[in-house]
Amino acid sequence: MNILILGSGGREHALAWAVLQNPKCDKLIVAPGNAGIAQIATCASLDTEDPGAVATFAYDHAIDFVIVGPEAPLAAGIADRLREEGILVFGPSAEAAQLEASKRFTKEICAAAGAPTAAYASFTEAELAKAYVRAQGAPIVIKADGLAAGKGVIVAMDLDTALEAIDDMFGGAFGGAGAEVVIEEFMTGEEASFFVLCDGETVLSVGTAQDHKRVGEGDTGPNTGGMGAYSPAPIMDDVVTRKAMEEIVKPCVAEMARRGMPYQGVLYAGLMIENGQPRLVEYNVRFGDPECQVLMLRLGAQALDLMHAAAEGRLAEAQVNWADDHAMTVVLAANGYPGAYEKGTVIGGLDDLPETSFEMCFHAGTTRKDGQVLASGGRVLNATARGATLAEARDRAYALADAVDWPEGFYRRDIGWRAL
Ligand code: AMP
Ligand code: GLY
Repeated sequence: MNILILGSGGREHALAWAVLQNPKCDKLIVAPGNAGIAQIATCASLDTEDPGAVATFAYDHAIDFVIVGPEAPLAAGIADRLREEGILVFGPSAEAAQLEASKRFTKEICAAAGAPTAAYASFTEAELAKAYVRAQGAPIVIKADGLAAGKGVIVAMDLDTALEAIDDMFGGAFGGAGAEVVIEEFMTGEEASFFVLCDGETVLSVGTAQDHKRVGEGDTGPNTGGMGAYSPAPIMDDVVTRKAMEEIVKPCVAEMARRGMPYQGVLYAGLMIENGQPRLVEYNVRFGDPECQVLMLRLGAQALDLMHAAAEGRLAEAQVNWADDHAMTVVLAANGYPGAYEKGTVIGGLDDLPETSFEMCFHAGTTRKDGQVLASGGRVLNATARGATLAEARDRAYALADAVDWPEGFYRRDIGWRAL
């Protein structure tokens, strides 16, 4: 099978790594890729949000199967176009990708499916939104309706912050994403991520994870794309997982099919769990980054078979062979992230890192120039490892992170603290 993966982050390096373990992969191209991916696969430059360009590229390179990493190409209709052209693709249609691209849409699906989630109201006018917030009181959560690169959510602990957030969103702080604002009840509890594959009808769990969104140790400081993750999430015990599956994911997937927009791809449910009851915080239509890195290390080669089965509508006959293990990833980020940071700093020590089925340093924001690996983004490397226990996975992951020679980078020392 000739495979094309779209994307350039640590998630896509982990996907590429897993796909290459599988002998069914004959050729792998990743577009655009990064310096780490370039060591294991062919990288190509391609406008991944241009459906015509992706379809033509897939034809020209005799691609049999396309795996879409991030949400933006999906929202742009890449999967629709590839399916029209008869090219097998892992990822939802633009219509189904509204589960991430529109928070109001997701709320409507949850309501129709009876899936537990925060109470909400949606607004297109600031004054009405503010009147609602004043009536509800704080804490309360203000969200831009559309895609805002993970930044369109303000958890307002007081009324002034909430009112200011409404002004910011209608004032264009998130561009078109803020033309509509969803206001939600503030939920308390512990967060976890639940990942399932869907083929439009059948739903298959591929694992749970927890990430650390805050930049600082002890989960302090500003939000980031994620500073580390581990799998499985201890809070997702059998009972909670079954509830998440039966009360949230399956009814929503069935509602999507009923509306004539069957969901195919990976569905990532962000959950809030309180007293053993999960409620939906949000859906994403892609693997989490860095959660994907820990899932791929645990799944290995079978990840390709599972994604392929989802794309071909064969999930009912698929099953996951779980090793009873744990994985952790530690994100190495550029000093200053998530604020301003320097690009182009040199990263050393990478050539000597062990690369086994137990430990991999995935690249996120890196490029190669004159034989050196340079940092080219905020989140730069993902030191990822697995072990029989989470403590063992942690020790291996931190041994990798410690062996990287990059004075201009930093990482949190306490990934997994809650579970450990
Ligand atoms: P989202 O992009 O919707 O996942 O929101 C980002 C983060 O904001 C979530 O991971 C939660 O930590 C927090 N959050 C979002 N919605 C709520 C809510 N209704 N109640 C409490 N926290 C929330
Ligand atoms: N790590 C959170 C996300 O990928 O959305």
